[in-house]
Amino acid sequence: MGKFAEGRVVNSKRWTERLHSLQVEAPVEPFKAGQFGKVALEINGEMIFRPYSFVNAPQERPLEFHFITLEDGPLTQRLIKLDCGDPIYVAPRAAGFLTLSELPDAENLWLLSTGTAIGPFLSILKTEEPWRRFSSIVLVHAVRQAEELTYQEQIRQLLDEHPQRLKVVSFVSREDTDFAIKGRVPEAIKDGRLEAKAGVQLSAEKSQVMICGNPDMVRDTSLVLEERGLKKNRRKAPGHITVEHYW
Ligand SMILES: Cc1cc2nc3c(=O)[nH]c(=O)nc-3n(C[C@H](O)[C@H](O)[C@H](O)COP(=O)(O)OP(=O)(O)OC[C@H]3O[C@@H](n4cnc5c(N)ncnc54)[C@H](O)[C@@H]3O)c2cc1C
Ligand SMILES: NC(=O)c1ccc[n+]([C@@H]2O[C@H](COP(=O)([O-])OP(=O)(O)OC[C@H]3O[C@@H](n4cnc5c(N)ncnc54)[C@H](OP(=O)(O)O)[C@@H]3O)[C@@H](O)[C@H]2O)c1
Repeated sequence: MGKFAEGRVVNSKRWTERLHSLQVEAPVEPFKAGQFGKVALEINGEMIFRPYSFVNAPQERPLEFHFITLEDGPLTQRLIKLDCGDPIYVAPRAAGFLTLSELPDAENLWLLSTGTAIGPFLSILKTEEPWRRFSSIVLVHAVRQAEELTYQEQIRQLLDEHPQRLKVVSFVSREDTDFAIKGRVPEAIKDGRLEAKAGVQLSAEKSQVMICGNPDMVRDTSLVLEERGLKKNRRKAPGHITVEHYW
């Protein structure tokens, strides 16, 4: 199968009608937390592959991928039908720059995600590096419905391990809850609700921000941050905002 290593599905979890995770045993090379792997299935004699962020930390096995099914999605519609023991293919080498090695140091770190993009941030938070480099970390997960707030158990464990330093803020945009911010991330940055809920100051002087998921959210949030003086992080011109689009 050329550039893909053959692996096996070892667990398939359905969170909601549309949200799933797959655990996979496959021989991949060492990767950095926040990177993605290319996952493939052979469909009608052709390898169909898409990028998926690793949810597992680099030191953890099995590999884990979290995805939403799209109605006409060629790969996701097949991934949900896989059972334990079924073959699946993963490119041995990971890729991507949503990693802490790309970030300058700062006092606090903001991890802003929509939907399944919570995954790479969990991978990062399960390593030691963020806890060595940042005094406080804010994890934001924005979803439409409360039931889409996945991985609550892992998040609770992280909160237990880092009670003073980790803040978790949920956004639920299409349902009322008694715990989440209702609405969208950029608006809540603009009007101060996000900082108030996190109890952490978001500024060019103190913060690094990683943003992942819906490309409209990534763009709108970056614009609001740029209005506050934060700059895009580039290799040759270090800034404050590091992003990854899922589509
Ligand atoms: C760097 C990178 C990392 C990614 N990591 C993840 C991940 O960890 N989890 C994940 O669910 N997806 C992730 N994606 C998206 C993923 O690669 C696939 O595009 C997606 O699973 C759909 O595949 P498909 O073959 O079913 O449909 P496709 O034909 O590939 O997609 C159909 C259309 O659906 C939209 N779309 C694609 N992905 C999403 C999505 N996640 N949410 C909403 N709309 C989408 C796009 O408009 C796309 O053109 C990532 C994409 C990139 C570029
Ligand atoms: N989740 C579902 O039940 C569902 C149902 C039908 C189709 N889908 C399909 O699946 C895809 C992924 O769905 P998803 O629910 O994981 O992700 P999503 O549509 O990206 O929504 C996740 C969160 O991002 C917010 N958001 C969207 N655009 C934004 C922007 N420009 N700025 C800031 N926040 C923004 C949404 O708020 P808003 O609610 O205000 O948009 C929501 O809170 C969708 O694009 C759609 O094609 C999902």
